[in-house]
Amino acid sequence: MHNVTQSPSYLPHALRIVRHRLDDSTRDFLQRELTSAIADLRLDSDRHQAILSAIGSQVLRSRLPGEILQALAFYSTSHRHALLLENLPCQRFPASPRSGFTDEAELACTNALHFGLLELLSVTPLAVDYENDGRLIRNVTPVAGASGTTSSWGADAEFFWHTDNLHLPFGSGGADAQLYIPRYLSFFTVRNWEKIPTEVVALDDVMKSLDHCALDQLRSCEYTVHAPDSVETATPFTDVAVIERHGSDHFARFDRAATTAGTLPAAEALELWIQTLRHARAQEIILRPGDFLIFDNYRVLHRRRAFQPNSPETSRWLRRCYASRRPTRCRAAGIRNRR
Ligand SMILES: [Fe+2]
Repeated sequence: MHNVTQSPSYLPHALRIVRHRLDDSTRDFLQRELTSAIADLRLDSDRHQAILSAIGSQVLRSRLPGEILQALAFYSTSHRHALLLENLPCQRFPASPRSGFTDEAELACTNALHFGLLELLSVTPLAVDYENDGRLIRNVTPVAGASGTTSSWGADAEFFWHTDNLHLPFGSGGADAQLYIPRYLSFFTVRNWEKIPTEVVALDDVMKSLDHCALDQLRSCEYTVHAPDSVETATPFTDVAVIERHGSDHFARFDRAATTAGTLPAAEALELWIQTLRHARAQEIILRPGDFLIFDNYRVLHRRRAFQPNSPETSRWLRRCYASRRPTRCRAAGIRNRR
């Protein structure tokens, strides 16, 4: 079932997600203004990302209600796990890209929205050279030849609970963000006729179900993580913990197929962690066309169950972009400038 809320609502457990829904008239205004601003410009998602961000953020700033602008401005500092913004405008979309890539210039309005929202969220779009041909936008859709793989291009293999790109250290954002695990995953929904949920769970919720012994073990540097299937080249990251403490927060790096334990106690704790995740109290979000979702890849685990795609042209299609935090001083300046 699709949630429809006019004001933010918070779930009753540790996962803190803020939701907003645009009314139809705001959505239609946005659509007209974006279409007019882009006109016949051919703007590519990588080469012209800064222009698309500027166009999108300007249009959004002028049309979004104040409470939504405020929710976006404070998301990355408010300790919310996720933010869902529903009912954004949808342009005319081509068929779902079976090759994994499409003509990005045709999707300029969608990209302006996506990058514009990231700008208002005070986070920076992040492309990584080890995945997705180094492009900013990943088309999360069933791709010919990817069946049977646990990849965002697959469908028939279940994704167990995981965090993305766990083979790197945690970082705090800034110019060298590519060297670290991406902090945020953001998605714009093109189509999801199959009604496949994106499932998320807060690390805090999972940790509550583990005893101190298991937690201590998972915090020990007795694990090795390998790069996931979608990563082209990467060396394993050795002597690392599954859960790391950073100040008052805990961060997780985990992918079942990519994580191995170096000792028997570490292996036992890992098994307990996997069993706990199986019974985790998750939130299922069925994204619909025009929905935008962002969540914290350090404090949230996500999964997608196996599914049978629609016809190739209309199969599930989300547009994913990683994002990194801006250094604290930049974020503070961004917030001040919007006041
Ligand atoms: Fe993922």
